[in-house]
Amino acid sequence: MSTTLHSSALLHPDQASETDFMPLLGTDHVEFYVGNAKQAAHFYRTAFGMTLIAYAGPETGQYDRVSYVVQQGKVRFVLTTALRSQHAIASHVLRHGDGVHAIALLVDDARHAWTQATQRGAQSVLEPVATRDDQGEVTLASIQAYGDTVHTFIERQNYHGAFLPGYRAVENDPIARPVGLLHIDHMVGNVGWNEMNAWVDFYERVMGFRLYQHFDDKDISTEYSALMSKVMANGNGYVKFPINEPAEGRRKSQVEEFLEFYDGPGVQHIALATHDILHTVSTLQRQGVEFLRVPHSYYTELEQRVGSIDEPIRDLEELGILVDRDDEGYMLQIFTRPVEDRPTLFFEIIQRKGSRSFGKGNFRALFEAIEREQQARGNL
Ligand code: FE2
Repeated sequence: MSTTLHSSALLHPDQASETDFMPLLGTDHVEFYVGNAKQAAHFYRTAFGMTLIAYAGPETGQYDRVSYVVQQGKVRFVLTTALRSQHAIASHVLRHGDGVHAIALLVDDARHAWTQATQRGAQSVLEPVATRDDQGEVTLASIQAYGDTVHTFIERQNYHGAFLPGYRAVENDPIARPVGLLHIDHMVGNVGWNEMNAWVDFYERVMGFRLYQHFDDKDISTEYSALMSKVMANGNGYVKFPINEPAEGRRKSQVEEFLEFYDGPGVQHIALATHDILHTVSTLQRQGVEFLRVPHSYYTELEQRVGSIDEPIRDLEELGILVDRDDEGYMLQIFTRPVEDRPTLFFEIIQRKGSRSFGKGNFRALFEAIEREQQARGNL
C-alpha cells in the first residue's frame, strides 16, 4: 500500500517503524475545562451514557478545583472547573468556553516520553512528577500542543486506584445510561490559517507520528467554504489526530467560525467508536443528543454510491447516519451539533466495517449541513 502524500493515502499500522521513539499505548483520558463541572458531568452521564467513576475536590484535599471522571468502554473524560475566579482554569473557560484542555496519552515511561518530546523541541508544561496514594503511584508530564491544548504523558502501571492519586472512587452511578461507546477513534484539532503544516511537522518531529491520510480543498469544499486536513497517526496507529486549517472559500468556513468562537486553535471534534451505530445513535437521540441532518436526497443516492451494506437505508435515514466506502470496506458516521452554546466542540459517532478512512464521500453533504447551521447563527 502506498504511503505517498496523495489524497487518501493510507499508512498501514504494521508499517510502524521499529524505532518508534515514543510508543503510545492509547488515549488515557481527555480533560475538559468547563464552567460548571457538576452539570457537565450530568450531561455526559444522562445524554452520552457515561458512568461517574471518580471525583476530586475540596472533600479529597483538592481545594482550588473540582473534577468528575466519567467513563464508557475505554472512553474516559475528566470534567474540571475552577472554584475561584483567579485561576488558570477560569481564564481558560473565560477565553475558550467549555472545551478540551488536555489529551492524556498512556505510556510505559512518562519521563522517557517527556524527555524525547522536549529534546525534539516540545515546550514543557509539566516536568515529570510522581504522585502516590495508598493505591500506588502514577507519573505525569505534559507538553504544549496547539493553542492552549496540552498533551499529558501518563504512566500508571503501578497504580490500582479508580483514576489518579487524590481522586476518590465512585462505586455506583444510578443515572448513567450506557449507549455502547467503545473507545476514541480520532480527535481533530483546528489550527489557524497556514498553520497545519507546522503542526503536522510537530507531530512528526516531536511525537514520532506519521502522515496517515490527507485531504485538500478539492476534497473538502462546497460553494461557500473549504478546509484542508492531514491525519497524523502514531507508530502503532492507536492514536490519530487529524489537523484542519481553513482554506479560502467564498464565505466564512466552519474552521474559521470555530477559531473565532474558541478564540484560537483547539479540539474541534472527538470521534467515538461503536460496534452498533444504529443502537448507539438511536439511544443517544432518545437521551437528548442533537445531531446534524442531511437531506432525503442523500439516502436516495446512497446505494448507488456505496453499494450494498448490512444496515437498512430506511433506518439510517431515520437516524441521519452517513455511510462511506473505500477499497477496504465501509464506515458509518454521524456528527452531533456543538455540545456547548459556542459553535465549537462536537462529537462524531463512528462504526468501521473494514474502512480505515474518514468519510471523504460525506464531506459535501456534511459541510452543507454545517453551513445551514452557520447560516442560522448568522456566521456564514
Ligand atoms: Fe472525524
